[in-house]
Amino acid sequence: MALTSWLLAHVLVMVASPIVTLSSGDISPLKKGNTLFSLMFHLVHFFLFWQRQFKKVSIPGAGRWTGHVYRLREITYFKPPTQDRSFAVKTDITENKTAFLLCSRGYFISNLSVRFGSRVHLQSDSTAVRLYGLRDLPIYITGDSTGILRDKDGMYRTQDFPSPQDKNGMYHTQNSSSPRYYPVGTGCDPVLRCLGHQACIFKPSLKLCGLDPQPDLRKQLEVRYVCTADATTDTLTYERHQRERTREVLHISVTEMDHGLDIIQWNTPAENDIFSVMCPGPKQSGFERYYGVCDDEPPPPEKVVSDLWKVLGRVPSEACRDELLQVYCAYHYNIHGGCVPALVTSQVDKDGVMFYNDVVLPRKGRRPDERKHREVLAHPHVSLIPARMAFALLVHNNPEAVVSNSTTLVYQL
Ligand SMILES: *[C@@H]1O[C@H](CO)[C@@H](O)[C@H](O)[C@H]1NC(C)=O
Ligand SMILES: *[C@@H]1O[C@H](CO)[C@@H](O)[C@H](O)[C@H]1NC(C)=O
Ligand SMILES: *[C@@H]1O[C@H](CO)[C@@H](O)[C@H](O)[C@H]1NC(C)=O
Ligand SMILES: *[C@@H]1O[C@H](CO)[C@@H](O)[C@H](O)[C@H]1NC(C)=O
Repeated sequence: MALTSWLLAHVLVMVASPIVTLSSGDISPLKKGNTLFSLMFHLVHFFLFWQRQFKKVSIPGAGRWTGHVYRLREITYFKPPTQDRSFAVKTDITENKTAFLLCSRGYFISNLSVRFGSRVHLQSDSTAVRLYGLRDLPIYITGDSTGILRDKDGMYRTQDFPSPQDKNGMYHTQNSSSPRYYPVGTGCDPVLRCLGHQACIFKPSLKLCGLDPQPDLRKQLEVRYVCTADATTDTLTYERHQRERTREVLHISVTEMDHGLDIIQWNTPAENDIFSVMCPGPKQSGFERYYGVCDDEPPPPEKVVSDLWKVLGRVPSEACRDELLQVYCAYHYNIHGGCVPALVTSQVDKDGVMFYNDVVLPRKGRRPDERKHREVLAHPHVSLIPARMAFALLVHNNPEAVVSNSTTLVYQL
């Protein structure tokens, strides 16, 4: 019974929070205890270790800066890969896949280079790639800058830009189509905005990058960046608002508006809100928010952060982030579903009976278009059309009270 209620609650929390997209591959709290997974994990680590021992790469265009370049997947928040004051990281992100640039705690993204294009094009182009720093880009760092049209809510519009200007040879874009952003010439200039931050989340796409360097080819974004210790952002080198960036995560998203106008939106949750999350132990404050049988050891903070930061960093609402954390922790306190967070229940009577609140019930929304469904039913070979089935079990002691609610649920499924 408890498991059923838990599953129901779990499913409904997801349904009720459309802003949260827990896409597959981002977090895997449900894979606990999978030995195959653990074996692969060790193999991957061994491979990384081996690779680290033997592969030394230099950053193209980094001038005098050469040295070991870490792969992004080697970077964790809690433990920098080296004791050095700075280290370099590289990654390639396929078009339309979300990128999660990260510097370890106490470091920030101090320098960055980006190139956007097809794999073949990037490999054959031997032009030195410029590694930008915050000071190279005054247009990106001052709030009252000209050149970028910013609304007071931090939105950044892509149309009606001043015409491109060639500055110190920094502008090397293709002639075929002109970039819709203030050009620096990387092929995906908005990504330079990641400079100065603790971590940066964005999806390289034609809409974000603003131009298509090789139409009809699948593209990727090649990113190289340097993480530098926060301590180096002394008052002489950086202004206050620049230093504040080192304690923020940047999430860049593109929203398509009517009339084909895209809007790039910047969200900057505080580093602490994303990376200081934890599941409290039984004697710690916050634990009283969990009801039922919550006996299992909470996962260590390192695991909580690595499982959740990529999701939390994209959720602007603090309340939604907290709900996500509650669901995650409750699951880990009892993977059989016996632990329930305050989000869905707030009352347990003296016999241990839990009362769920209406978060577990579906919210009213638009009914899906049923035309497609009717078309399928009318098909002469309807019995050959594969179908997916879904079940929802609703456990409640007053069925009439939820009839209208569950009807809505059936339609949503
Ligand atoms: C990184 O950026 C800083 C600040 O703009 C600059 O002074 C420094 O030379 C850059 N480092 C590299 C390796 O390009
Ligand atoms: C790009 O523009 C420059 C200057 O406007 C011109 O000289 C050059 O031929 C153009 N290249 C292509 C490939 O169109
Ligand atoms: C990326 O997404 C856009 C818009 O959804 C789509 O038109 C394009 O084909 C996608 N590109 C790839 C390589 O999947
Ligand atoms: C479901 O029930 C709750 C609590 O009675 C109510 O507030 C809510 O409006 C109902 N939703 C629908 C879709 O009927």
